[in-house]
Amino acid sequence: MNRGEFLKNLGLSSKALMAVYCLGAVTACGGSEDDPDPVNPDPGTNNPGTGTAGLTGTTSGTSIDFTVDLTHANYAKLKTQGEFLYVANIIIANAKGTMVALSKVCTHEGSTVQYRSAENDFLCPNHLSEFALDGSVEKSPAPSALKAFKTELTNSGNSLKVTA
Ligand code: FES
Repeated sequence: MNRGEFLKNLGLSSKALMAVYCLGAVTACGGSEDDPDPVNPDPGTNNPGTGTAGLTGTTSGTSIDFTVDLTHANYAKLKTQGEFLYVANIIIANAKGTMVALSKVCTHEGSTVQYRSAENDFLCPNHLSEFALDGSVEKSPAPSALKAFKTELTNSGNSLKVTA
């Protein structure tokens, strides 16, 4: 007897059964994945260390203009192709040697996008929208492009400047 048959034998209604299933597998029933927190949804592994060490400038608002030190431990991983980091609401990726900076906020429901090195594009894990390196939508449901920022390697490739 499987779990469903067992629960039915207990006389539970279908709604009660769904509640039981949802308790056992929250992701299968929506739950937190359908209600992302756009303020701080990052998994953590792609965030720089605490504070602003290795970063100067403005990372939010309408005048985004900042530089990260690629020799600093907080940002050094960006020197490796296929790596990416989040800085405020921006995702920066080393896309096969090209530095790409886009808004990390999916235009569908605000989840945080990720860089996929194998596909060399960006994926929103919530409803699987895909974005090209210029931020344009490759696959919906995202209704519009991610905002793209200009990137420039300076200081002999040891600094990355990101501007609106
Ligand atoms: S939040 Fe739905 S695809 Fe990104």
